[in-house]
Amino acid sequence: MSELSMDDLMFRPGLMKGQRILITGGGTGLGKVMAEACVMLGAQVYIWGRRGSVIAETAKELTDAHGALAGGRCTGIACDIRVPEAIHDAMDEVWVGGALTGLVNNAAGNFISRTEDLSPKGFDAIANIVFRGSFFVTLDAGKRWLAEGKHASVVSILTTWVWNGGPFTVPSAMSKAGLNVMTQSLAVEWGNRGVRFNAIAPGPFPTEGMSARLNPGGGGMLGEADPTIPLNRNGEMRELANLAVYLLDPGSAYVNGQTIAIDGGSHLKGGGGFARLAEWGDAEWEQARNAIRATNEKDRAQRTV
Ligand code: HXC
Ligand code: NAP
Repeated sequence: MSELSMDDLMFRPGLMKGQRILITGGGTGLGKVMAEACVMLGAQVYIWGRRGSVIAETAKELTDAHGALAGGRCTGIACDIRVPEAIHDAMDEVWVGGALTGLVNNAAGNFISRTEDLSPKGFDAIANIVFRGSFFVTLDAGKRWLAEGKHASVVSILTTWVWNGGPFTVPSAMSKAGLNVMTQSLAVEWGNRGVRFNAIAPGPFPTEGMSARLNPGGGGMLGEADPTIPLNRNGEMRELANLAVYLLDPGSAYVNGQTIAIDGGSHLKGGGGFARLAEWGDAEWEQARNAIRATNEKDRAQRTV
């Protein structure tokens, strides 16, 4: 079932007409909603994933729901981004219709685990998708853009763990941090040849894929409203979709090398160590003010100059 209506988007109808966007992992979750927004705004969107039936179903659903009105279209191609040759073949298929104007590195794998319980294969299961796979997709498209002198926007979907770490999700946090550095590095290396790089670091946006691997059994940190989030709620899909469209569209052409958090301010909450003070009411603040004033008065009384 489609997630968005035009009222959810900040942009004029037809904004993305003529744009050609690839979204890895676009068959489900956040990738699907970003694909939907692009189709609704008139883009030709390609989605990749390993499960051919999921990809085909989503592509049909999004084209049927929005294509006729907006002129946009979604095409699904089964592709495992762990395999460079498979990426190259799928990219050939995409390029038949012309160069891409945008790429969203969204496909990922993740699960919670104590780090000491991980096997090498467990680490590779994540790193081969997120770290290596996203790089191989970027490289394959990048070589084509540079050879053809085409302009493009690359948006990678990270996590806020790239700034403050991800205990119990270390292979994911390490891999996403690598993509953060890829974003910064290629923004400089390829920026003057028309290919720009940005990233989005979402806080919790509950999806089936994420809940099954990070919140098995339900409850806990990824439940309904999370009191540790300053805005006291999870993200809404349309909020993520609007940010992705902004970064993909040439309207944001001077934004390059940035990673933008969309997390209600969560990753800043430890800032200064005083986050817990948000729980204080008038009485606690009055008490603190009086105690601080008393200390100041005592110190003043002892001053000789
Ligand atoms: C420890 C585990 C494990 C677990 C798998 N492994 N799950 N180890 N704890 N919970 C180990 C296995 O034991 C095996 O190693 C190795 O990983 C490979 O396992 P497979 O099941 O064969 O892997 P595979 O079929 O390739 O599946 C890949 C996957 C899977 C990553 C493990 O979860 C997947 O396909 N995920 C795609 C979707 C996804 O994860 N979406 C969530 C994104 S959400 P051994 O040595 O035993 O053989 C997200 C949110 C972040 O990123 C931010 C939230 C705020
Ligand atoms: P999701 O629905 O599980 O999406 C992951 C997608 O990646 C799936 O469609 C999956 O499809 C695809 N994928 C996995 N391995 C692949 C491979 N080897 N080749 C091609 N496609 C592959 O989870 P989500 O929550 O929407 O996550 C989307 C992105 O947002 C991820 O990068 C995630 O780390 C990031 N993120 C999510 C949240 C959140 O709260 N949801 C927060 C921060 C960041 P197949 O299994 O069919 O291949």
